[in-house]
Amino acid sequence: MNPEDLLELMSRRRTLRNFTDKEVASESIDRIVQASTLSPSGADKLPFITIKILDPDARAKIRKASEKADREFHENCDPKLKKWFDAKGIDHRKEFLTKAPLLLVIAGDTTKPYWRESTWLSIAYMLMAIESEDLGTVTYTPSDTSFLNQLLDMPQNFKAEVILPVGHPAETLPDKKARVTGKVFDEKYAGE
Ligand SMILES: Cc1cc2nc3c(=O)[nH]c(=O)nc-3n(C[C@H](O)[C@H](O)[C@H](O)COP(=O)(O)O)c2cc1C
Repeated sequence: MNPEDLLELMSRRRTLRNFTDKEVASESIDRIVQASTLSPSGADKLPFITIKILDPDARAKIRKASEKADREFHENCDPKLKKWFDAKGIDHRKEFLTKAPLLLVIAGDTTKPYWRESTWLSIAYMLMAIESEDLGTVTYTPSDTSFLNQLLDMPQNFKAEVILPVGHPAETLPDKKARVTGKVFDEKYAGE
């Protein structure tokens, strides 16, 4: 693989919040979930699971519970963050949870070492795999995820870290540009 191709894939990946309802090919789903298990993980424990949710009723229940939790969060969040949300048009409504035809819930096993770091590395691998399929997603982190243990029969040692709605893009967003200034230093920290 040409190294420029990987950078190009990373530049193209943007957070997508608007989806068509076209279904996601099962081969794509298979490759995305395979990617989740190819990441490095603490002591190679793969301390996370992914639950695939295609059922529209289940997605509707997840949306309802997420919106309930996020309504409170948005009402009480830090004003600076609220301003950013307002500029982006983000509020407690999560239409993408029912619009995207597939939800991936990724949960960490809190009994395993390095569970959170490993879970997030795995999520990053999935984001790249999703992009490589010309699909989109949003790294959605509901303010409370405990309802997912109940809805998805997940034992209490699992903590859902993210819901990735996956689908075909209904909008086109500009590519990202690398922003290394103030983020990368030669030999020693030199201030932002
Ligand atoms: C840890 C993490 C949590 C995030 N949580 C949310 C979220 O709950 N809702 C949302 O709409 N976007 C969420 N995002 C997406 C970010 O807002 C987005 O990545 C950022 O604005 C940069 O945009 P880009 O992904 O298009 O480069 C999250 C991203 C990360 C990495």
